Amino acid sequence: MSSKILVTGGLGFIGSHTVVALQEKGFEVVIIDNLSNSSLNVLEGIVSISQKKPAFEQIDLREKEAVKKFFEKYTDIDGVIHFAASKAVGESVGNPLLYYENNLSTLVYLLQELQEKPKANFIFSSSCTVYGQADELPINENAPVKKAESPYGNTKQIGEEIIADTCKVATGLKAISLRYFNPIGAHPSAAIGELPIGTPQNLVPFITQTAIGRRQELSVFGDDYPTRDGTCIRDYIHVMDLAQAHVVALERLIEGKEESNYEVFNLGTGKGNTVLEVINTFQESTGAKLPYKITERREGDVIAAFADTEKANNVLGWNASRSLSEALKSAWKWQKEVSKDEEN
Ligand code: WQD
Repeated sequence: MSSKILVTGGLGFIGSHTVVALQEKGFEVVIIDNLSNSSLNVLEGIVSISQKKPAFEQIDLREKEAVKKFFEKYTDIDGVIHFAASKAVGESVGNPLLYYENNLSTLVYLLQELQEKPKANFIFSSSCTVYGQADELPINENAPVKKAESPYGNTKQIGEEIIADTCKVATGLKAISLRYFNPIGAHPSAAIGELPIGTPQNLVPFITQTAIGRRQELSVFGDDYPTRDGTCIRDYIHVMDLAQAHVVALERLIEGKEESNYEVFNLGTGKGNTVLEVINTFQESTGAKLPYKITERREGDVIAAFADTEKANNVLGWNASRSLSEALKSAWKWQKEVSKDEEN
């Protein structure tokens, strides 16, 4: 009998790729999504890749009763991977309460159900944003969590604390927080990918939308940083590698391999690339031309962030294996697919 896994936000960017990875590993998946930042087309994409249709429940996790009813209906959930959250840094500054309600009340309602179970395995979608500008690079899991630069980042910090505190008292609950660096790319089939609504905030979807002609030109937010070419450095990780890490983390808990009932892992490639290096790699690996200009810095950007992957590699037993070029090519293939659909 295969384990049944709840994936909240399972129709989102990282969630959908993780559902595919879980199904390909033989897990049974139930998706909860409120479709506020995704669509049912994504479910079709998942099925077209893995030839398996996950169960789907359209639920808003802010409705405490709905969460309770879900667990009354699905009494055999062996693990939960919790992606559902608002994630736009800029939006969170202008609308903090939307973020505190959506990202934290939903987490509390889920944990209130899980702590009632004799045993529960919980994977939390966190972010390297909790480190702010780290004092040391590469960044390991012992780096201090700094005052968040945005309500979004704060919800990830507080979320981790809520889970850690709950694990101290809910004896059957085991949890892992996965701190993502910069997820990019798409499934090689281009059946699923990143679907930013409106103007993309993140670099790679803005690059692909500019290259395909949906945006006039990319603004590079500052080239006067103390880095090798003046632009910020980030650790860009292929979403397929990230999805695989979630399966490995879940299996760690299900198989009882954890070293404590709450663990944290950084998920990155361990390599940092500047914005200009990403632009050049994109053009070289796709042949597409990318018009861009240098503009002012963006408020809140850190100079550099890339992961120390030692703990993920040697304790979790996971390595990112795909290159920046491969990720950018997959993002480009996905953009061309999306644009074809939009034209029809
Ligand atoms: C990357 C680099 C920008 C857009 C954020 C969140 C993080 C995670 C990923 C959710 C920076 C530069 C960007 C553009 C640019 N989000 N840039 N022009 O800010 O590192 O991380 O998104 O989980 O939690 O903090 O990612 O892609 O926005 O920016 O020059 O149009 O690209 O200045 O240096 P970021 P990003």
